[in-house]
Amino acid sequence: MQNLSDVLASSTTPDALKTVLTVTTDTCVDISNALKQGSLAGILGMAGNENVQGEEQKKLDVISNDMLKEALMACPAVRAIASEEEDYIVPANTDGEYFIAFDPLDGSSNIDINAMVGTIFSIYHNTGDAPATEADFLIQGKEQVAAGYVLYGPSTMLVLTTGNGVNMFTYDPINSRFVLTHDNVQVAKETQEFAINMSNQRFWSNKIQSYVSDLVQGKEGPRDKNFNMRWVAAMVGDVHRILCRGGVFLYPWDNKDPSKAGKLRLMYEANPMAMLLEQAGGKAHTHTQRILDIQPDAIHQRVAVILGAANEVDKCLSY
Ligand code: F6P
Ligand code: MN
Repeated sequence: MQNLSDVLASSTTPDALKTVLTVTTDTCVDISNALKQGSLAGILGMAGNENVQGEEQKKLDVISNDMLKEALMACPAVRAIASEEEDYIVPANTDGEYFIAFDPLDGSSNIDINAMVGTIFSIYHNTGDAPATEADFLIQGKEQVAAGYVLYGPSTMLVLTTGNGVNMFTYDPINSRFVLTHDNVQVAKETQEFAINMSNQRFWSNKIQSYVSDLVQGKEGPRDKNFNMRWVAAMVGDVHRILCRGGVFLYPWDNKDPSKAGKLRLMYEANPMAMLLEQAGGKAHTHTQRILDIQPDAIHQRVAVILGAANEVDKCLSY
């Protein structure tokens, strides 16, 4: 049985990147332990509230952010971090070589119902002589040197790419290690399962309306096959399902808030998931372009996302 350190040791991953990955995944194990405590740890509830002892209560997404931030800032190989929970990038070590963007707790509204959540991360190589700035961080997703997520579900799983396929690891709590349980993950080109928040239907473009309407007509419609629908409401859970058994996931542009290009964040959600999907033979696009080709203009930028089975993404784009 191979574990994460065996897989990294036998790869061409540079040592400094191995360290960054180890620090990230070790911290995710700590986050998973904090999540397991749930209400017992007295850490659920809204950030900014006070608990009965008068101590400030923190939401688990704030706690997860602080844990990752602290661990990564202490890692000499880290040049800067950017997090969905931080307004600005946080410069770490000027001599560091890696930028890490992360969503510390994706799908955090699932916490309240004890359902799946996860940490998503995206890593870039970039050096410089001065402390890192936001501009240094605005790199296209295709330049990522590693991307992945840790899913906190019935078991804790790490899904990782360093640009040479996708591996899935399951955390073994007895021996405290991530064991390789699926290597070279592949997403089938065809699918009969889709994921979209149907409650936004009236806000979608006409094209997405016709695409989804054709899916739900099933065998009686132009697609001539029945489709199933699933929505975890945590991108990490929906993408994990697609990597495990195929499917297509959409969070399209809608006109609910025309000032936003979509709901999901390019740097913390779309780019790392796009790299995983492409590495597994799938596709990831906005309605106009490949996600990994987008030149970011701000770290918190939002984008429309259509990802999953290659032929189904193409079919959607053909509308
Ligand atoms: O992080 C944003 C997010 O929670 C994703 O994880 C998820 O896919 C999406 O938002 C859920 O959106 P909605 O609340 O519209 O179902
Ligand atoms: Mn998220």
